[in-house]
Amino acid sequence: MARVAVVTGGTRGIGAAIAKALSAAGCKVAANYGGNDEAAQKFKAATGIPVFKWDVSAYEACAAGLKKIEAELGPVDILVNNAGITRDTMFHRMTPEQWTQVINTNLSSLFNMCRPVIEGMRQRKFGRIVNISSVNGQKGQMGQSNYSAAKAGELGFTKALAQESAKSGITVNAICPGYIGTEMVQAVPKDVLEKNIIPQIPVGRLGEPEEIARCVVFLASDDSSFITGSTLTANGGQYMI
Ligand code: CAA
Repeated sequence: MARVAVVTGGTRGIGAAIAKALSAAGCKVAANYGGNDEAAQKFKAATGIPVFKWDVSAYEACAAGLKKIEAELGPVDILVNNAGITRDTMFHRMTPEQWTQVINTNLSSLFNMCRPVIEGMRQRKFGRIVNISSVNGQKGQMGQSNYSAAKAGELGFTKALAQESAKSGITVNAICPGYIGTEMVQAVPKDVLEKNIIPQIPVGRLGEPEEIARCVVFLASDDSSFITGSTLTANGGQYMI
């Protein structure tokens, strides 16, 4: 039977590549998105993957959205927590809203999404949870004290939940992408990207969303059954850990 996979932020950027790759690997995929209806409808028309709109920073919205997906597609076997935002600014200029929005969307969303599905996964003795963190959660990044904190928090969450879930056939892993050629990275000022970031990437280029999607397909597969609590770094050599 085809496994059911949910990808948050699954209609654009890295998430869209993940949703398409899981679908190509034979999963029944549901792509969540937060706000961009036009992009979501375009993605749905191009891929045939159903899309579901809700805000991952709100627990009740996640619980309701997941209930709808389970009613339409079946119990969730694979959860990819990919949705994320940036509100980059130097810390001395950061507002409480910029802090809270990033922490809630990028980190609290892991609680909001995992909590409603974990009991079912435990009962069925199978689950794959893949959290998309970031190189900037590993090394820190100027202008991103909010984002780096959330992304580092994801790694602690991954390891704790992996320990709790191992005996139930559930693996919980994180991927730390480097700078990938998506709208999020294109929003970085061009001179900063060219002067300060790309020169730090030994392979000399931004990554492709598909290069991250292939990591997810592996961690979501049966082949990765002995891997849990791990962090898979995919950053073109920018930061080696
Ligand atoms: N490394 C080294 N120096 C940097 C730098 C970096 N990554 N980013 C900025 N600087 C330097 C600038 O060159 C500048 O130096 P000079 O004054 O000598 O020219 C100085 O820091 C101040 O920078 P700005 O003039 O740009 O200051 P600002 O207040 O207008 O903006 C900023 C600051 C918000 C940090 C802006 O520089 C910025 O957006 N930087 C990029 C932050 C970043 O990498 N975000 C990642 C987004 S993609 C993502 O998050 C996905 C992922 O997971 C990887």
